[in-house]
Amino acid sequence: MRMYDIILKKRNGKELTTEEINFFIENYTKGNIPDYQASALTMAIYFQKMNKRETADLTMAMANSGDILNLDSIEGIKVDKHSTGGVGDTTTLVLGPMVASLGIPVAKMSGRGLGHTGGTIDKLESFKGFSVEMSEEKFVENVNKIKLVVGGQTGNLAPADKKLYALRDVTATVDNVSLIASSIMSKKIAAGADCIVLDVKVGEGAFMKSKEAAFELAEEMVEIGKKVNRNTVAIISDMDQPLGFGIGNVLEVKEAIDTLKGKGPKDLYELCLTLGSHMVVLAGKAKNIEEARAMLIHTVESGSALLKLKEFVAAQGGNPSYIDNPEKFSKAQYIIPVNSNKEGFITKIHAEKVGIVAMELGAGRATKEDIIDLSVGIVLNKKRGDKVLKGEPIAYVHANNMEKAEKAVKDILNNYVIADEYKETIPLIYGIVK
Ligand code: URA
Ligand code: CA
Repeated sequence: MRMYDIILKKRNGKELTTEEINFFIENYTKGNIPDYQASALTMAIYFQKMNKRETADLTMAMANSGDILNLDSIEGIKVDKHSTGGVGDTTTLVLGPMVASLGIPVAKMSGRGLGHTGGTIDKLESFKGFSVEMSEEKFVENVNKIKLVVGGQTGNLAPADKKLYALRDVTATVDNVSLIASSIMSKKIAAGADCIVLDVKVGEGAFMKSKEAAFELAEEMVEIGKKVNRNTVAIISDMDQPLGFGIGNVLEVKEAIDTLKGKGPKDLYELCLTLGSHMVVLAGKAKNIEEARAMLIHTVESGSALLKLKEFVAAQGGNPSYIDNPEKFSKAQYIIPVNSNKEGFITKIHAEKVGIVAMELGAGRATKEDIIDLSVGIVLNKKRGDKVLKGEPIAYVHANNMEKAEKAVKDILNNYVIADEYKETIPLIYGIVK
């Protein structure tokens, strides 16, 4: 078999066989196929697409490219949650403790941020000493004891995806339904959870810009999950504006803590309740969504979810006293208001652009090697539908460099749309696929 023939076949719009897909993934993982041939193939897939059978084959080939975790030694039905990537999305830090405090094991493999989207591991490292490095035994021990653990996609978990995703990220081939579905599902399958709740983002700040594409992606992933006996549910949610107010690592951790204290942003809390109630139902701890939702609200009102966050942070080496004393988190040197230059209603916040502004301040990585600054980012003060007066702050820039701060202020102003009236109603949740 020759890689050249596989590229040519896909370029000409033909269906690839299981053997051809396996050949590509096996040899690309081993380093026998160079990046230029792999990128030619992903670009051909981008234009010619893959059918459901090819997508399922690609998923399994990538899942099998490394170890498949065996979580059988973890008691109970393990649930996992994964987002397709958004801006200011802190749901894991809120959801994890809420669901785990109900006794449901949450064993999560997370990533670091790349491009305009953030990563859970970076955020958690805002707690001094926190680490995702641990042996498989320790991983299992933590879930059994605390019910919540976050590990990195380290070691040998879906290495083919790790390599291919990094390549797609720099060759403009991320936003294809088959490539995203196989990337996410291969990791989830390798990570060994019994049930999977997917948060499929739609809108300007997401990879899927249209509702149709988001539903197609959701259906594809749910189907793959069913095929391999992992009960999978997908929620399609809005990413046309950033989620919550904070964008940036420390800022998002603080927002998650506020939410667990019952005083967080409404949209973030609502999305967590929606995703969380499906996790609780899939884990068999509630009869229906309504019951699950009431249980989750109780974890916040009783303080048990906040307590769980403290236990979890401490178990992975982090300093939990930050949770009661958030002033201990590192702070940016400058906090500069972004004042509106006119009166009106916010009709749009360009989510992806705002995510890029946060990245340029140092909150994210433009390349894998970049070192991030945990304290910097943006706190939105006004969101879609809000009224704003001239001179009133629409956001605050947290920066450690005045030049970067001034540029960020200008960029944020340019990426807010303010008009005389606001009529649109964009839902937070578009629908559910199961
Ligand atoms: N997240 C992933 O893990 N993979 C993708 O392809 C897109 C988002
Ligand atoms: Ca946020």
